Amino acid sequence: MDRNLELIKKAEETHNLNKCEIVQLLQDDTYNEELFRAADRIRTEYVGDEVHLRGLIEFSNICKRNCLYCGLRASNSNVKRYRLEPDEIIELARKAVDYGYKTVVMQSGEDEYYTLDKMTYIIQEIKKLDIALTLSIGEKSFEDYKAYKEAGADRYLIRIETTDKKLYEDMDPGMSHEERIRCLKELRKLGYEVGSGCLVGLPGQTVESLADDIIFFKEIEADMIGIGPFIPNEDTPLKDAKGGDFITSLKVMAITRLLMPDINIPATTAMETLNKNGRMIALQSGANVVMPNVTEGEYRKLYALYPGKICTGDTPSHCRNCITGKIKAIGRAVSTSKGFRRQIEAL
Ligand code: SAM
Ligand code: SF4
Ligand code: FES
Repeated sequence: MDRNLELIKKAEETHNLNKCEIVQLLQDDTYNEELFRAADRIRTEYVGDEVHLRGLIEFSNICKRNCLYCGLRASNSNVKRYRLEPDEIIELARKAVDYGYKTVVMQSGEDEYYTLDKMTYIIQEIKKLDIALTLSIGEKSFEDYKAYKEAGADRYLIRIETTDKKLYEDMDPGMSHEERIRCLKELRKLGYEVGSGCLVGLPGQTVESLADDIIFFKEIEADMIGIGPFIPNEDTPLKDAKGGDFITSLKVMAITRLLMPDINIPATTAMETLNKNGRMIALQSGANVVMPNVTEGEYRKLYALYPGKICTGDTPSHCRNCITGKIKAIGRAVSTSKGFRRQIEAL
């Protein structure tokens, strides 16, 4: 049997590959379809056919950081800034519940307007709605993470972006790789379900580095991994970069599923930006989560991480119906549970 077919089989049976083996799979495209089908089988076996929907509230596009790839970076003066008041965020969460979402994800730039008191209030009010709450608001102190958890937050997403320390620190001026890892470790210690992930296609990123990313996800025992292509934004220093491609992102995602069979993996919005059926293809190549946008009105457009972001002209209710239809059309069902990770002990 060809070596890469053997590697796919090994990954499917043992959920373990070393760095060289992952590089080998990433480098060669001959058996991509076999890889995607294997990831789909493992997804079915370990997390089932249900797709968990998470309603995404993009509550502020104000950010003190300057990540080179991101349209929300502080130095970008071409974007009109907005932030929602705590009660507006809670109202959006109520609407998300009405649409049938069992999880709300609060995402924003690193905006210091949201003090600990404000955040605690928002979290407590949203948790009264009997849904799971995920935060994706960047790097905070241990004390802040602890207070959010005590207020009721269930999950936290913070991508490592890349495990290549030099590349990370080049891409995220003023930020340190150690600090990012500190956040991930503390979140785990505090009992959150921890989500991380990477950008695929950053300038200078290698397949070796992508293999390290996958190994890192396993090492930190992440509960969720979101993988998306980097999409260059006109208003950032990386405007002329090539950006990531759909297939490589899909491969990184599929290998992650094979090596971490029972975690939650979203079919990311950025994937659909590069391929008009991207999220459904991802759902059939290892993913089991979708995060439809529940932000309203012009804010959807203003949360402009990268160009071509899908759904910016649609309403939350349209997206809810749209995604349900697409999921059913591929023979899958929308989950009615909160969709926590069910860890399989024998792994
Ligand atoms: N500020 C928080 C943080 O950085 O963790 C949360 C919001 S941030 C906008 C969420 C994710 O957007 C980042 O982790 C990054 O991977 C992704 N992102 C930013 N710019 C992007 C781009 N140009 N293409 C694709 N994804 C991008
Ligand atoms: Fe801010 Fe997050 Fe964008 Fe970096 S990726 S500039 S921290 S919103
Ligand atoms: Fe928004 Fe389809 S999910 S238009």
